[in-house]
Amino acid sequence: MGNILDGKALAQEACKGIKARVEALRNIGVVPTLAVILVGEDPASQLYVRSKGKKAAELGIDARQYTFDAGLSQDALLSKIDELNQDPGVHGILVQLPLPAHLDTGSVLERILPEKDVDGFHLYNAGALLTGRPGFLPCTPKGIVHLVKSTGVEIAGKRCVVVGRSNIVGKPVALLMLREDATVTICHSRSQDLGSITREADILISAVGRAKLITADMVKPGAVVIDVGQVRLEGKWQGDVDYAPVLEKAAYITPVPGGVGPMTIAMLMENTVEAAEAASRNA
Ligand code: GUN
Repeated sequence: MGNILDGKALAQEACKGIKARVEALRNIGVVPTLAVILVGEDPASQLYVRSKGKKAAELGIDARQYTFDAGLSQDALLSKIDELNQDPGVHGILVQLPLPAHLDTGSVLERILPEKDVDGFHLYNAGALLTGRPGFLPCTPKGIVHLVKSTGVEIAGKRCVVVGRSNIVGKPVALLMLREDATVTICHSRSQDLGSITREADILISAVGRAKLITADMVKPGAVVIDVGQVRLEGKWQGDVDYAPVLEKAAYITPVPGGVGPMTIAMLMENTVEAAEAASRNA
């Protein structure tokens, strides 16, 4: 029987340090401020944005929410971003994804100043991650590395298999694990015989969004299993991993919910504080 990797508890621990940094900033008259832009009424996005706002308020971060209807034009969205870029009181800008199909996500993300891009999605920050330069790390991958490190299992030299190649999770988490000196393989929907690859993983990270994609026979005994999947099935959140049987086989596994999700939000708060600290140093 493996150990449950409690993302909620780890996030709470991380938030203690973040809160202290918020207080230090407030003491010098800086209120860390995050602008969150939500376009349309996707229920999952609404839920994520609410959770981010709630956590920010708990930590003393000012989260300003800008909600627009799904018909918002590209120009109007870019103008809003320009306005927030120019506002010295705003330290972080986040555009909740996915955007409605008529909007060009790439050019929207590229409009955010890299120093306010607390999601780490701008090409500058993506390039910084690729080349090992300082920049904002995307929140879910950053949280995953914390989760793996919290097990005490050494990452260097281990086989890490990432299932999923999205820009938000799969590709950046693979780069971060490479930075930690893991031997990294990325699998995706066209990979042949997925199980033969995942069975080699000392650290298995699945970020696909398909319930029970990862069954117990696909997991190496004693592996660390990180489940980034989150789909709504029969009124319940489901991860990519067939949880109960994999818990029997793995050394550590993150639950859904309560694993990766809370760490993503904590890392967003940390990035926002980092942005505010950098702005106050440069003021
Ligand atoms: N949609 C799903 N995950 C994310 C995230 O980490 N950031 C943003 N902005 N949108 C998302």
